[in-house]
Amino acid sequence: MAVQESRAETSLERYIAEVRAAWGDGKDPQLPFKVKALMEKMFATTRSDDPWMAELIREGKPSRELYRDPDFGFIQMGHVHKQGHGNKPHDHGPCWVVYGSYSGVTEITKYKRADDGSREGFATIEPERLDRLTPGVCVAYLPGDIHSTHAVEGPGIVFRFLSYDLDQIERYRYNPEKSTVARV
Ligand SMILES: [Fe+2]
Repeated sequence: MAVQESRAETSLERYIAEVRAAWGDGKDPQLPFKVKALMEKMFATTRSDDPWMAELIREGKPSRELYRDPDFGFIQMGHVHKQGHGNKPHDHGPCWVVYGSYSGVTEITKYKRADDGSREGFATIEPERLDRLTPGVCVAYLPGDIHSTHAVEGPGIVFRFLSYDLDQIERYRYNPEKSTVARV
């Protein structure tokens, strides 16, 4: 077997190492904002022809897991969204998330819950804030934040950092037209 020559660390690997170094016990309330800043720095130091980014763009997959941390459980996803791609309002339960736009423009609406949550399956939500993620912009959404995404200028290369595996937690999707809420 040939000995592999040492190679320079990629900007993705550097970013992951920086997130791991910042993680601590994972409970720092500033952590989502630290990860947001690290993701913005990673975008600023990643060229579209860097091999790992070029591959992500070339493959054009709507969803790809780029990294899953074996110790802390966080996940970095990479998405290539066609113009017009969107999803219904949802939350990430007890997890927080950082969305970032590498290219294209993705609008994310953040909603506030307008009812008191006392009726099973019923929810009214109202738009509270519209974040416009132009290239290089990243935004943190905290536990319970209800949000929906819309790729207004595609293709949108969107990075989504998940503080934990969403398949393992309880979270909800909302239908504002029907005023309903259901577990994902
Ligand atoms: Fe989300």
